[in-house]
Formats: sequence, C-alpha cells, structure tokens
Amino acid sequence: MKINGTPYRSIWLDDDGWQVKVIDQTVLPHRLDIASLKTLEDAAAAIKTMVVRGAPLIGATAAYGMALALRRDPSDAALGQAYDTLYATRPTAVNLRWALDDIRQTVAPLPTAERAERAYRRADAIADEDVAVCSSIGDHGLDLIRQAAKANPGRTINILTHCNAGWLATVDWGTALAPIYKAHDAGIPVHVWVDETRPRNQGAALTAFELGSHGVPHTVIVDNAGGHLMQHGKVDLCITGTDRTTARGDVCNKIGTYLKALAAKANNVPFYVALPHTTIDWTIEDGVRDIPIELRDAREVTHMTGRLPDGSVATVEITAPGSGARNDAFDVTPAELVTGLITDRGVCPATSEGLHSLFPEIRASAE
Ligand code: MRU
Repeated sequence: MKINGTPYRSIWLDDDGWQVKVIDQTVLPHRLDIASLKTLEDAAAAIKTMVVRGAPLIGATAAYGMALALRRDPSDAALGQAYDTLYATRPTAVNLRWALDDIRQTVAPLPTAERAERAYRRADAIADEDVAVCSSIGDHGLDLIRQAAKANPGRTINILTHCNAGWLATVDWGTALAPIYKAHDAGIPVHVWVDETRPRNQGAALTAFELGSHGVPHTVIVDNAGGHLMQHGKVDLCITGTDRTTARGDVCNKIGTYLKALAAKANNVPFYVALPHTTIDWTIEDGVRDIPIELRDAREVTHMTGRLPDGSVATVEITAPGSGARNDAFDVTPAELVTGLITDRGVCPATSEGLHSLFPEIRASAE
C-alpha cells in the first residue's frame, strides 16, 4: 500500500541482499522511520518491542530472523538457538511457530553451506505468499461488503474494526482491512469506525494512519463506544483480525475484541473475522482454555505516548501514582459469536465443518 504516494511493504530485503528493513511501528503515525535488522537479536527485539507486530508480520519477521541467524552461523546448534530465541518473543500469534517450523524444516536437511541462502529465499517466499493470501482475503471479504451495499443502495456502509489488522500487521493488504481497501477501490462507499485499542492504541495510531493514507473515510472512537453505535444502527458489520484461530473457529485477537462480538450479537450486527490460513492452529479446539494469552508490561496501561504541540513525541503517566495495573494483550471470542470467517480460500462458518470444508487436506493428512 502507499504512504504519501510511495508504495511500501511492511518488511523487505535491502538492496544489499541480506539486511532486513521494516517500518518502525512504535513511532507511527508521528514519524516514518525505517529500521534495519542485521542480526537474530535485532529480529527478536523488533518482535518483542513491537517495532513489528500483527500475526502475519511477526511470522515473516521470524522467518527473516532465522535467515539472519544462519548467515552468521549455519550449524545445527545455531539453528536450534535461533528457533528458541524467536519463539520466546511473543506467545499468542501462531504464525510465529508456523514460520519458524517452515524455515527449520526447509533448511535442516541441507548442508550447512546452503542453509542461509535457502532460508533467505524461503523467507522471501513466505512474505510474497502473505501478500497473495491477504489479497485473496480482500477479494472474498469484498463480496460481503458488496452484498451489504446492495441491500442498502445509495448509503455508505459502516464497518467497525478493532486493533490494526491492516497492511502494517501483514506484509501488505492486511486481513480485516483488505476487504475495506478493495471495496473503497471498487467505488463502494465505505466508512470505518476505528476502535482506538488501548493500551497501545494500534487503532488510533496505525489503522487510522493506514486508512487515511489510502483515502478511506474513517472515524476513531474510544474502545467503549462500539456497543452504543451498534444500538443506534450505525454499524453495518464488524470485521476484525485474529492472532490464532482454533480448529473449531474460536478466534483470539487484541483485547476487547470479545466485548465487540458480544455487543454485535446483542444487536444483530454481523461479526466477521478475517484470517490467513497461517493463523489457524489445527491442534487446538477450545481457545479460551488452550490459547496462551500474552501478559504485557503494566506500564502500557499506566502510560500513554503521543505528540506534544512542539512536535516532539513524549510518554506521560495517566494513572494515580501507586495504582496497580494489568495488561492482558488478547482475548478469545468463542466461535458462536462469529458470523463467518473470511479466509484466503473463501468465507465459511466459524465451525470445525466450515473450516474443514475450505481446508480438506488437513483431515486427509490426519487420516
Ligand atoms: O499486539 P499486536 O498489535 O501484535 O496485535 C495485533 C492484532 O491483534 C491483530 O488484530 C492480529 O494480529 C491480526 S493481524 C492481521
């Protein structure tokens, strides 16, 4: 997607062929800084500190992190250590494990002299595949928005989203935002309600930035406003992303997604979740019980970062001194609250049958 007319991906290989470039998402929307990842440690730190974030982008960064590690040392011991270091960065998004397994399986059988080069090419392929997959999610989700537009001729379609599941969370296009970009580009009048998404404000900072850069009409709202807007008929549908989707269709996404799904159910607003197949964890059924939820630093709750009138960016304390705070980063929305899953292979009900109908090879390989 474009920033000020220039096309970007969220991650790419430098012209030198080995350094990895990423957009530093901790300083958006105030500054557009490009960070260079030169070592395994750089890649791990970028994921942990959320210079890069969003399930698919975490996976792509981890893949390049493996390549950086193998460039320095292609031994079995280094391969194992790189896997463990990257795996320990963030626990919830399953794309991380998926990408690390992919690279390890690709390079482990090779002579050490060939490993780094092959890891780079596989990481490139993972990034390219993510772009194609997200574009496909956009096409399938576009059909849903088209239907909503047909049912409401001449009226703008209002879509609520939570966190950032746009191109910055993937390599390009995004998941939840891909259908919105495609609808906007197709001339369907859309408007997006953007949940600010405390504590890190991925909605206010990143989703609003993305949509604004692409010219999509949007309005930032506080996280608690969604239910009210739904009660008053101001939301036609919700679309969010997911960091891990279980085999029966439970979805784990940024904290607060569950409350939006409850409000949507109570107000008969369709609640869709957009996901690449790399987000499905076929080993888990019950998301509430089995998905590890990241507990982040309480300082993200007690402090906020923003731009001062002089243009500088500062972090300020917002809570009473001495108050405790807790920072669960994700929650699980049970499948029964999800109207449908928008995948790269089409839209399906959030059920085991629905998912297996789109991914029949999973059952076949288990037999
Ligand atoms: O903590 P974050 O910013 O990595 O959380 C991101 C989300 O919750 C996204 O909605 C999710 O990764 C889906 S991204 C296409």
